[in-house]
Amino acid sequence: MDGRLAHVIVFGNEKGGCGKSTAAMHVIVALARAGYRVAAIDLDSRQLTLHNYIENRRRWAEASGADLPMPTSYPVPRATELDVRSAENKEFNFFADALAQAEAGADFVVIDTPGHDTYLNRLAHSLADTLVSPINDSYVDFDVLGRVDFDTGTMIKESCYAEMVREARRQRALVDGGGTNWIVLRNRLSRLVSRNNRNVGQSMEILGRSLNFRVAEGMTERVVYREFFPLGLTALDPLEEVTLATRPNLSHVAAREEVRSLISALQLPIILPQTSEFRMVPPIVDPILEEIGTELDLIMQSTHPEAVIHDDRMVEAVALQRQ
Ligand SMILES: Nc1ncnc2c1ncn2[C@@H]1O[C@H](COP(=O)(O)OP(=O)(O)OP(=O)(O)O)[C@@H](O)[C@H]1O
Ligand SMILES: [Mg+2]
Repeated sequence: MDGRLAHVIVFGNEKGGCGKSTAAMHVIVALARAGYRVAAIDLDSRQLTLHNYIENRRRWAEASGADLPMPTSYPVPRATELDVRSAENKEFNFFADALAQAEAGADFVVIDTPGHDTYLNRLAHSLADTLVSPINDSYVDFDVLGRVDFDTGTMIKESCYAEMVREARRQRALVDGGGTNWIVLRNRLSRLVSRNNRNVGQSMEILGRSLNFRVAEGMTERVVYREFFPLGLTALDPLEEVTLATRPNLSHVAAREEVRSLISALQLPIILPQTSEFRMVPPIVDPILEEIGTELDLIMQSTHPEAVIHDDRMVEAVALQRQ
């Protein structure tokens, strides 16, 4: 990569079950299908949902013969040491090794995090070029970001998670002067527009202005997303019976559309494909995949003409840790 490190996309928030791992897998497959080399790091050592999702994909590709592009996967195991300091050191070393390997061989590193505060979760947030926080579209989950005063249209209180992101961004800026593009996804949306939906949307916009994130629409609530997991599939894989092990239906097609919009909304500040060292590999033949590739190309051309160039960020992270 000629001194350029991969673009790091972190999926995080401190709320369980809002679709972080599912969305992460969809972004991974979108990038892999567009010809990019993608590495996945799973920091949710208790569940390892993303890693298991990828392993399911590998198994299904072997069993079915379907041509499924694969990311490399780095599960980070939980240290079993009783002493907190030793456990943190061990986990840190696992993560640092995984990150070094992932960044050396990939254009994108996608990090999935657990739905609770951990030492590595904080560190991962401070490495994010793009941070994606899926939020279930209800006021109950909305508190994971903060509280809003509707009368004045201002934020009353930021959440612990928002505070953690602020600190992670500050550290990131100190380390390499870089910024984190934070996107909050309104995820698992109901397809029925309700007053609640609209209010949540307005509140998010208010919070977004205070906390400096963009709001984007994520996935709607669909059974097909749950059915994809056991075979390691996504809405972006070929919608054919041989791949899906079932006949494609309208829900599959609609899911694919919303995932495409989601990928566009992320506006990934991507390593420029037109420079020789980041050429697109190999030509995409499936017309649907071609569209995804074209979308990504357009995004790349329209945003961030200067690719983010990092120095050895991990070394600096170590330095920060020791301060
Ligand atoms: N858009 C969706 N529609 C329907 N089911 C979904 C959707 N997104 C995720 N799910 C399902 O919800 C459950 C939780 O999703 P997922 O594991 O992606 O969330 P998570 O935020 O990573 O959870 P955790 O915080 O526990 O890691 C899974 O069973 C998944 O299949
Ligand atoms: Mg998860």
